[in-house]
Amino acid sequence: MSKLTDKVAVVTGASKGIGAAIAKSLAAEGASVVVNYSSSKAGADKVVSEITTSGGKAIAVRGDVSKAAEAQGVIDAAIKKFGHLDILVNNSGVYEFLPIEAFTEEHYNKIFKVNVLGLLLTTQAAVKHLGEGASIINIGSVVSSLTPPNSAVYTGTKGAVDAITGVLAKELGPKKIRVNSINPGMVEAALVKPTTLPLSPPSSLPTIPSGSQASLSAPAAASANHFVPTARCDSDAAAGLPRHNTKGEL
Ligand SMILES: NC(=O)c1ccc[n+]([C@@H]2O[C@H](COP(=O)([O-])OP(=O)(O)OC[C@H]3O[C@@H](n4cnc5c(N)ncnc54)[C@H](OP(=O)(O)O)[C@@H]3O)[C@@H](O)[C@H]2O)c1
Repeated sequence: MSKLTDKVAVVTGASKGIGAAIAKSLAAEGASVVVNYSSSKAGADKVVSEITTSGGKAIAVRGDVSKAAEAQGVIDAAIKKFGHLDILVNNSGVYEFLPIEAFTEEHYNKIFKVNVLGLLLTTQAAVKHLGEGASIINIGSVVSSLTPPNSAVYTGTKGAVDAITGVLAKELGPKKIRVNSINPGMVEAALVKPTTLPLSPPSSLPTIPSGSQASLSAPAAASANHFVPTARCDSDAAAGLPRHNTKGEL
């Protein structure tokens, strides 16, 4: 039996990039997956089609996670279609790098709303459906430990993700719900090219190419190593003890 048979997962921001790779990895292990997107319907439909043609179960659900009613709608759609919820992956994220002299209130609000408020709202909507053995996985970033220049706002959101993960691991641990973060290194995605980033990846942080559909297999393969064990509801990882995977890879 596959590791996630009969489990239901919601992956936010799964229309492309890391989220798409995570959705496909979970589906390959037997989970039924809600592929959330905000604007990229075609991307989400493609991810669903790839999962279902491989024999898996998935639906695409639109919802801006930074709006309470829409985050709730994503979770409601999972319950309506699949009946229960076991795994929440808070992956939706936006990034833009600016020096301290150039950032604006608008830039701050945009990035914090998706990366932090969106995570909190989606978790709030999900938590009443999660039972013993459930798993919440927040996608942070290695930037919270590297603190590269010109990234105060984005890195601030990922520092918040680490802190929230620690709080919720303790808060939900007594209910046997595990809360962890995976903090990837640089993964080439739609908006990230190594040349545009304010940091050069140290040699210990290999860049993982994922710009094309074909090369998405690289993060998908990496996520199979790090991600599925974290999501497994029979994992022996203790509830209440967050793991921040900061190896620099997904
Ligand atoms: N790429 C990297 O090097 C890297 C490294 C470390 C951590 N991360 C983190 O990994 C996560 C995914 O990054 P990525 O590089 O794969 O990004 P990406 O390719 O740009 O994908 C971002 C995803 O987030 C979704 N999204 C954006 N705003 C949203 C909203 N308001 N509501 C719901 N979904 C929304 C997008 O959906 P639509 O297209 O439909 O809007 C898309 O599916 C982010 O949290 C990022 O911070 C990335």
